[in-house]
Amino acid sequence: MTTAARLVILGATGDLTGRYLLPALAHLAVAEHLPERLEVLGVARDDWDTGRFREHALSRLRRHAANVDGAAAERVVGRFGYRPGDVTDPAVLDACVEGAGGPVVVYLALPPSLFAPVVAGLAGSRLPTGSRIVVEKPFGTDLDSAASLNDLLHRSFPEEAVFRMDHFLGKQTVQNVLGLRFANRLFDPLWCAEHVERVDIVWDETVALEGRAGYYDHAGALRDMVQNHLLQLLCLVAMERPSGLGERPLRDAKVAVLRQVRRLTADEVAGQSVRARYAAGRIGDRAVPAYVQEPGVDGDRRTETFAEVTLFVDSHRWRGVPFRLRSGKALGMDSREIRLQLRPLERLPFGQPDEVGPNVITLSMDPDRLAADIALNGAGEPFCLDPARLEVVLAPQELPAYARLLLDAFEGDPILSIRADEAEECWRIVEPVLAAWDAGAAPLLEYPAGSGGPTAG
Ligand SMILES: NC(=O)c1ccc[n+]([C@@H]2O[C@H](COP(=O)([O-])OP(=O)(O)OC[C@H]3O[C@@H](n4cnc5c(N)ncnc54)[C@H](OP(=O)(O)O)[C@@H]3O)[C@@H](O)[C@H]2O)c1
Repeated sequence: MTTAARLVILGATGDLTGRYLLPALAHLAVAEHLPERLEVLGVARDDWDTGRFREHALSRLRRHAANVDGAAAERVVGRFGYRPGDVTDPAVLDACVEGAGGPVVVYLALPPSLFAPVVAGLAGSRLPTGSRIVVEKPFGTDLDSAASLNDLLHRSFPEEAVFRMDHFLGKQTVQNVLGLRFANRLFDPLWCAEHVERVDIVWDETVALEGRAGYYDHAGALRDMVQNHLLQLLCLVAMERPSGLGERPLRDAKVAVLRQVRRLTADEVAGQSVRARYAAGRIGDRAVPAYVQEPGVDGDRRTETFAEVTLFVDSHRWRGVPFRLRSGKALGMDSREIRLQLRPLERLPFGQPDEVGPNVITLSMDPDRLAADIALNGAGEPFCLDPARLEVVLAPQELPAYARLLLDAFEGDPILSIRADEAEECWRIVEPVLAAWDAGAAPLLEYPAGSGGPTAG
């Protein structure tokens, strides 16, 4: 595919653009990965001109890309332009793509309610051949809406032109799951039900709502984190060895896992899921109000800020192994990791092997780290066991996740974006849980902000 000639950011004054997209562009420029002739055009309804947008961009970079020096920030911002307009007006979309000297990447950094009208508008616009559309999360709010959005996209654009974002796939530790699993004899034979007792995929955050009620109160932790990010991690942990690292074999292998995830019955949802929301508490020296007291939250909606679901992958490799997916806000500690707990060995020649705990392989994110907890003969008492940890702290990621994924969109490589069938399979897994929760199959628990949550991490 030809490298993009123009990036059009629809929603250029919003939080996502300021927090992630503009910093990503600055990091790409500093690393000399930004395509040389790429123009960047921001669009939103504010009646700004290019000068005002550049000032805004510089202030966002000072805040969210503080390690990019001032001169480099000025240089990249010098490539940004701005056009005010309402993106539901097809004439505005047409004007944004007009005159591009090659493929355009159109980034929908917009409220999700605008995805469908904007896709319809772009279908009728004069987008140059080879252009791409980047769609942010959430991709639909359930299976039907995701399928309709896919249909709408496919009516006008080939699948390879559609980039459904999941920035977790741009994280180096996430990509490292593949290297660890498929390039090491040390780990490859262990990666199955014979040796793995359980898998925990945990994304605990100390951040609370932070003013995002407008989006979050309609989504909740299951839709916001489990349906997309954590199921992606499950795919990488559980998939079979792909025939290569091309877009097709990798995404085929992920979809195969999603199809094998057993759908939960309402009774299983009651026993295998936990939903909860935070009550008032303290996180460090910060007092946090109860979720229902946060501005913009409607307590009657009963939105969960903590979701945990235990799933099983019905394959020979993973028969009977629980995969516990857990994510919550306003918890006492940040913990972002994938843990594989190995089964105990039988007939040890040592008295008390239980004292040192099981072997655990842990992949942590932010900071990126790989650890293996093992048992060794301790110093002093040669036949007693001591726990030991082998640990590798990975070098900081060269490019932030959004920069990695934007670069792929510029170059037309969808390998790290979500394919249409993946998005729908993820909803197929999560929908029975949402339906059973709506029907009251699991109580809505509470946990104090700053605590460990309603279950053990
Ligand atoms: N923020 C995050 O951390 C984050 C993380 C992951 C995914 N996302 C997703 O990213 C998308 C954007 O989120 P956000 O947090 O950036 O939202 P936001 O702060 O509300 O920004 C929305 C942007 O869209 C523009 N906009 C809204 N209606 C418009 C219209 N009719 N015509 C032109 N521009 C319009 C807004 O500007 P005007 O209203 O002034 O026109 C603003 O620039 C959402 O789909 C969200 O789910 C956000």
